[in-house]
Amino acid sequence: MGEGGTPLTPLPRAASKIGIRDLYAKDESRNPTWSFKDRLASSAISVAKELGARVIASSSSGNAGAAVAAYAARAGLPCIVFTFQGAAGPMLTQMRAYGAMVLSTRDKADRWTLLERGVREFGWFPTSPFFGPAVGSNPFGIEGYKTLAYEVAEQLDWQVPDWCVLPICYGDAMVGMWKGFLEMKAWGWIDRLPRMVAAEIYGSFGKALADNLAAPPAMPKTHETLAVSIGATQGTFQALDVLRRSNGCAVSVSNADLLRWQSTIAAQEGLYGEPSALAPFVAVEHLRGTGVMSAGDRVVTLFTAAGIKDPDATARALPELPLVNGEFETTLRVLAEQFGFDSVATTKR
Ligand SMILES: Cc1ncc(COP(=O)(O)O)c(C=O)c1O
Repeated sequence: MGEGGTPLTPLPRAASKIGIRDLYAKDESRNPTWSFKDRLASSAISVAKELGARVIASSSSGNAGAAVAAYAARAGLPCIVFTFQGAAGPMLTQMRAYGAMVLSTRDKADRWTLLERGVREFGWFPTSPFFGPAVGSNPFGIEGYKTLAYEVAEQLDWQVPDWCVLPICYGDAMVGMWKGFLEMKAWGWIDRLPRMVAAEIYGSFGKALADNLAAPPAMPKTHETLAVSIGATQGTFQALDVLRRSNGCAVSVSNADLLRWQSTIAAQEGLYGEPSALAPFVAVEHLRGTGVMSAGDRVVTLFTAAGIKDPDATARALPELPLVNGEFETTLRVLAEQFGFDSVATTKR
């Protein structure tokens, strides 16, 4: 459906704000369902078709469900998506618009129990995990993320970035992207590998790295995050492995920082992202501030989804919309008072 081939957009204003040479957003909001999950869905559902799957099934309340619903529709396969009561918003509407059978469970844990029975007894093709601790998504889908690495390398004229910074939930995208870089290195297309960074919420990867744990631990849910798409409290083994092999690190991000970067990147660079998509900027700012990243580094962030996927958090943080009548003089006064707009200095003669 035209997934992938997304722009690698330079962000000069954000780069100078952070004090780093080159900062890019791999703009995944341009995909057919407005998120990077289309790479996973395209790959997983193509394989499902090849294997003769009769039903696509997923447990998701967000972008993954929306993507598989669209690609299942395109493949002409029925799609069942389990979500839970309380999950809300545009992404559920999006799944239903594509004709998926979306079911809400009262207890969050039931999503996996139901999906597991469908998979084991009826041969439903799962695109998401269905037992815990989460092991990551469908491995054929994760292969689809290798294209992120191929594209970034090609777009940078085969100069590998120093860092790739991703918002992480299960770490599927990071694992797939890393695999893509490894392949290109083995083929001799690139001569080195980037360092991978997990921008996370509750610190599962950060704790595993700091305490040298074998697997990411389950963390307490200390607060409600605005970045609901990456709100898992426990990471996956393979994503931790990538962080270690790439000499990477993990940074936990707060709601205030997510909102600050959401408005900065939207208002100064023209890219409006879902809160999760801004987590990498919080991480880059932190890593540059603590000297882990150098001023001369080249950094690629994964801008995972469009802001219209979850506009409520943005709307809540905004002041009331100013109301004007038809009078131009009053309008200029309101523009000056509310936005600091200088109508005299900006007049075109
Ligand atoms: C917008 C967005 N960003 C990032 C992620 C994290 O994805 P992953 O599981 O590949 O780490 C998700 C996952 O749901 C997401 O929806």
